[in-house]
Amino acid sequence: MARATVSFTCTECGAVHSKWSGQCDACGAWNSITEEAPLSAAPGGKQSLGTSRGKQIALSDLSAREAPLPRTESGLAELDRVLGGGLVPASAILVGGDPGIGKSTLLLQAAAHFAQRGLKTFYISGEEAAAQVRMRAERLGLSEAPVQLAAETVLRDILTTLDSERPDLVIVDSIQTMWSDSVDSAPGSVSQVRAAAHELTAFAKRRGSAVVLVGHVTKEGQIAGPRVVEHMVDTVLYFEGERGHQFRILRAVKNRFGPADEIGVFEMTGRGLAEVANPSALFLSDRGTPAPGSAVFAGIEGTRPVLVEIQALVAPTPQSQPRRSVVGWDGGRLAMILAVLEARCGIPFAGLDVYLNVAGGLKIGEPAADLAVAAALLSAREDTALPAECVVFGEISLSGALRPVGQAENRLKEAAKLGFSSAIAPAGGKPGGESGLKVTRMTDLTAFVGEIFGAG
Ligand code: TYD
Ligand code: MG
Repeated sequence: MARATVSFTCTECGAVHSKWSGQCDACGAWNSITEEAPLSAAPGGKQSLGTSRGKQIALSDLSAREAPLPRTESGLAELDRVLGGGLVPASAILVGGDPGIGKSTLLLQAAAHFAQRGLKTFYISGEEAAAQVRMRAERLGLSEAPVQLAAETVLRDILTTLDSERPDLVIVDSIQTMWSDSVDSAPGSVSQVRAAAHELTAFAKRRGSAVVLVGHVTKEGQIAGPRVVEHMVDTVLYFEGERGHQFRILRAVKNRFGPADEIGVFEMTGRGLAEVANPSALFLSDRGTPAPGSAVFAGIEGTRPVLVEIQALVAPTPQSQPRRSVVGWDGGRLAMILAVLEARCGIPFAGLDVYLNVAGGLKIGEPAADLAVAAALLSAREDTALPAECVVFGEISLSGALRPVGQAENRLKEAAKLGFSSAIAPAGGKPGGESGLKVTRMTDLTAFVGEIFGAG
């Protein structure tokens, strides 16, 4: 009989290797391969699935009508929006984020809200003692909420309890602390995290409960454990923000029951997380008089327009390799814009350190921010402030042309609502009428440089 052998799995991509090596040859990641216990063989020995007899599965038409998903709203509008309109039964949600960012705080508040709306809610903490969670609840003013609490890490006991109690909502904080005795490795290891996530999502589907798993994020910004956990759950939310800032952003990166890329904005206060209904006002709140190196980008986050300030600093450097430092935006995209400015507009950044920062701790992924980034860089380099009360948006192509971006009208309306009087946007696309803003439309970056800085 063949001996069951251990296998080696990459924590980044999930590829399985027959032996350990320093680099995964499937995805190229270093030091990501860990030992895995063998999967227990199916009873009856090795029989190919194709030859064994299974039972017939049921098929149905695409047109079959399903009742709309019965959602429960928490009453926290920012959370409900990110969930796609409320909590769906029999769903599994993964909430990732840096340690200390506020995941436990957010979920305890969410648990209290859902419990107050009549859901039978369990909060299972593997990280903190029950007394610590109670202390936090007291600080948040939630001691009276009908949430049932347990400090436990043994998955088998947890599942037995859940199967008999059948709660509507279970929060497991965190998935890395859960221990399944069916897997022969330490808590937090890839196989443990995967097994725990699998068991808990299976419970959600079996009993119709909603299960929220908290996951820590690694230095590289991924939820620790294999990517397969993200594939197992229905919804993946990231809780982001800078420790030094009070803003926190809950972002849906995957959602089977709603739009992805939706964000909810919160503010960390002395009494927990407060909702921020008007994020633009918050992100622009500490902006003073227009200064060189600052541009206001009219962006879209999920379904909402959000205005945010982009700040740049450009300074001469004695180093042969100047610094390129970015917070809140893609470093590769910054390099591209610097190259386009140099090659198409003749504005070199060699010998200059470049720092770029998105104010308020927001992370922007939209290429529509290109023009605002270029504007902030040019403004910093020329030491000239951009026109006051002006927003900027547009995508830059490698040729230096400006490309129209989606939802121009919504961007302009939001800017008008916040008291801006003009905008710079790419030519083409839908004409923006009713916003009331004076919109200057341009076809390329050279024209933009000429218009704003009087140079070509
Ligand atoms: P926590 O929810 O424990 O973070 P995580 O679960 O993501 O590790 O939040 C920890 C931080 O939040 C901690 O530094 C203190 C701060 N905090 C407040 O500022 N106000 C509050 O009301 C609470 C409960 C926490
Ligand atoms: Mg925590």
